[in-house]
Amino acid sequence: MRTQVISTVNQPEAGTVLAAELIRKGELVAFPTETVYGLGANGLDEAAVLKIFAVKGRPNDNPLILHLSKKSEVRDLWDGVPRQAQPLMDNFWPGPLTLVFRRGARVPDVVTAGLDTVALRMPQNKTARALIQKAGVPIAAPSANLSGRPSPTKAAHVREDFEGKIPLILDGGPCRVGVESTVLSLAGRPTILRPGGITREMLEAVIGPVALADSVLAPLPDGQAALSPGMKHRHYAPAGRVRVVTGAPDKAAARILTLARQAQIEGLSCHIATTAQTKARYREWPHTLIGDRAKPETLCANLFAMLRETEADLILAEGIPFDDIGLAYMNRLLRAAGFDVESAE
Ligand code: TXA
Ligand code: MG
Repeated sequence: MRTQVISTVNQPEAGTVLAAELIRKGELVAFPTETVYGLGANGLDEAAVLKIFAVKGRPNDNPLILHLSKKSEVRDLWDGVPRQAQPLMDNFWPGPLTLVFRRGARVPDVVTAGLDTVALRMPQNKTARALIQKAGVPIAAPSANLSGRPSPTKAAHVREDFEGKIPLILDGGPCRVGVESTVLSLAGRPTILRPGGITREMLEAVIGPVALADSVLAPLPDGQAALSPGMKHRHYAPAGRVRVVTGAPDKAAARILTLARQAQIEGLSCHIATTAQTKARYREWPHTLIGDRAKPETLCANLFAMLRETEADLILAEGIPFDDIGLAYMNRLLRAAGFDVESAE
């Protein structure tokens, strides 16, 4: 199959007529969102949704998010609507917030992987919304990466994984947020299943206390059922290993330099993910500047690209505090590292 790539950078609606047609015919289309690229299918067409699982190599117990272009499209997709739903939708939709509800009658089993809940999100990206609106159906879409690989934040990443396997990629340029949406369950007491661009602090300002699922910052103990099935599978793995060092920037940098020298003695190639505050310390080593510790959203925006584009046996990265958007960053970084983390304090 030939994979066509259409740029929507200066024209958000370019290619969306063709993309919507493909979706309605049961085909897969990759499209930009403000978080990461999605791999979309008609969310009401079971056969089309099954193609997503096949092409990604995704475990079939991991449910998908349904993407909407208007708030009114939640009708028939949810049930037993909790009181927090409306204020959250008013404040954060469109945007990087996915809400989990009791599922409505119209949602096929394949989308929810048999769960009695459904995840809904209205993205902010104009191309994404134009596509959903033209398709006229909710679009089921996971991140557009092979299962286990870092999520794609550029169209080139999608091509790397799916060239020749899907008919169309809409190229909207680099994604603004760079980590996937916050997943908040409203099926019981409000609980963050996956941190993202909408922070716990922002949610609490609107609905009061919000819990954090245990899986957000720790590996799940063997045998424990995940609230969000996606959290139990290996994630974001680059080609080599990733090791994280937490602590004050100076101390973390000193420890990272020691680890880099050790790796060199062992004959391993090593690459350092640097920040504006510490990059001068690492100038003798191969490195990538990923952002500014004082603006953790810049770290989020560049993390997945760094993981994908770096070829080294070992990637060393600094950990940052878990507050605000730092929680989303550390959630992804620790998973990429398989929780190989130490403190330099
Ligand atoms: O930003 C995003 O959310 C991107 C863009 C494309 O929208 N999508 C995305 O999808 O990251 P995916 O499939 O890679 O991650 C969806 C996460 C998974 O961890 C999945 O387990 C969880 O959401 N999820 C989906 N439906 C759920 C449900 N009913 N209950 C609990 N967790 C659910
Ligand atoms: Mg994913």
